[in-house]
Amino acid sequence: MAFLFNSDAVRAKIFATEFARELPSLSFFTDAGSVDPAAVRYLLTWTAPPDLERYVNLEVLFSIGAGVDQFALDRLKKRVKLVRMIEDGITRMMQEYVTLAVLALHRDLPGYLNQQRAGEWRGRPVRQAAERRVGVMGLGNLGRAALDRLGPFGFPLAGWSRSPHEVPGVTCYHGESGLADFLAKQDILICLLPLTAETHGILDASLFSKLPLGAGLVHAGRGPQLDTDALVAALESGQLAGAVLDVTDPEPLSAEHPLWRHPKVIITPHIASVTQPETAAKTVVANIRRHEAGLELVGLVDRDRGY
Ligand code: NDP
Ligand code: OXD
Repeated sequence: MAFLFNSDAVRAKIFATEFARELPSLSFFTDAGSVDPAAVRYLLTWTAPPDLERYVNLEVLFSIGAGVDQFALDRLKKRVKLVRMIEDGITRMMQEYVTLAVLALHRDLPGYLNQQRAGEWRGRPVRQAAERRVGVMGLGNLGRAALDRLGPFGFPLAGWSRSPHEVPGVTCYHGESGLADFLAKQDILICLLPLTAETHGILDASLFSKLPLGAGLVHAGRGPQLDTDALVAALESGQLAGAVLDVTDPEPLSAEHPLWRHPKVIITPHIASVTQPETAAKTVVANIRRHEAGLELVGLVDRDRGY
């Protein structure tokens, strides 16, 4: 029985050490060419290899990232379980990124960076955290963790999800019917939604028009959720005051795209959160044990929902 690891050499070494210690009876491979495909029960990868079909006895496909939109689900046999990555490293880094981005918009960092470039020493208008409403689209592992970190700053917090949730200290909205009400009350909107047919293009002109005038956007979900032309227009009209973008479509944007040099925008190259091999290896080991014991896997993707 074999585990095939398809990622970089640094991570491979850390996973191999953890697997040798915790699951010595499972053969660990990093080279697809040296393993009998029929022996592979577990595959960990970012994207499905082109020859996925040859792993005829595959039981679990582990995504090395939190997102699974990069997998074409119709290529995966129904009996193969697809598992997204839930591990402390990803969660902690996303908490850091969202905090960084929200505070940057809250304290108008884009405005101060522009002033610095112009050699201008001048205070800009300040709003207290209690008067800055912050809402997260997506109340999953990362959305809830981000809210948890933002709580101590004193922002009024809200979240929007597909199904109803109750999160202490957070006003929760859900579904299509709850979206307009949620948006109308957010001064900073954070997107931490998975990419699905329903969330594709969700950050568009219509959505921006439902936010209060001068709201800010933090986008750390997936690039295709954002209509970049609509964002530029909303920034130009003043409907949005600023944006922090970690994901775009395409990645990177073309060199001449107006968002690169937009004075109200901060762009980072999809680095909000990165899987940390030490903690990720432990969660994969724990999930294999769960699988072998017939228990539900942590992070199991619902194929019908797409996340
Ligand atoms: P989860 O699956 O734990 O949570 C997803 C949340 O989104 C759930 O609350 C779900 O609602 C909600 N949701 C999904 N579809 C809809 C919809 N149509 N309408 C309303 N709400 C919806 O995901 P994670 O929190 O682990 O990750 C979220 C995403 O963050 C990833 O899929 C990935 O795209 C992105 N990401 C980005 C990274 C980066 O570096 N920029 C790094 C890691 C992840 P419900 O609770 O009702 O099911
Ligand atoms: C992820 C990512 O999904 O890095 O983990 O985007």
